[in-house]
Amino acid sequence: MTVHIGAKPGEIAETVLMPGDPLRAKWAAERFLENPVCVNEVRGMLGFTGTWKGNRVTIHGSGMGMPSLSIYANELIKDYGARTLIRIGSCGAMQEKVGLRDVILATTSSTLSTPSSGIFRELNFAPWADFGLLHKAYHVAEGRGMPIHVGGIYSSDVFYDERPDLNEQMQRHGILAVEMEAAELYTLAARYGCRALAVLTVSDHLLTEEALPSEDRQSSFSDMVEIALEAAFA
Ligand code: HPA
Repeated sequence: MTVHIGAKPGEIAETVLMPGDPLRAKWAAERFLENPVCVNEVRGMLGFTGTWKGNRVTIHGSGMGMPSLSIYANELIKDYGARTLIRIGSCGAMQEKVGLRDVILATTSSTLSTPSSGIFRELNFAPWADFGLLHKAYHVAEGRGMPIHVGGIYSSDVFYDERPDLNEQMQRHGILAVEMEAAELYTLAARYGCRALAVLTVSDHLLTEEALPSEDRQSSFSDMVEIALEAAFA
């Protein structure tokens, strides 16, 4: 047990999928894993361990935002030995060429966030995705005929953003989309020598203000789980 995770030693797999929402973690574990067992429910955050095609996997919620993801990813890596962490989540598109439901594989993520700025201070550290995971995820998504974009994203600390000027600069510099967790996940993976990837689908568009209906969010989520599992093990 750690401060925020109730799992016993050995109950967390080396490969962890991290959706933001704990109930999505439960849904994905029940839908995709064989013999899923709930290994965490501290503070309502849910984690499940089971197998997929014979491979042990944990699906554990991250919560929303980098401070929340940071707590879980730190404990999963340092206390439970997680080595491959894949975020599956939604994002808001920032470019015209990116459409609703498109898949985004983030090569890197820019951020103003305090978990990073507190460490790096004046240095603009550029956290990166694991190339092997990204490469496999790209081929899986491409094989399914999904529209995919690979490039830089923005991990914001706020959903209700008061800095439209900053979004404009992101758009001008080709940032594909905004979400709230990947930069911290990639930074922790760099620090502890783990593999990390963010597989995202576009749930809303900052330029057109379109948004996915909730049924489509469920099917996009299901696609992301499959891409993540195949990227981790195929
Ligand atoms: N902002 C931040 N995070 C998000 C968004 C957004 O517009 N859409 C999905 N995740």
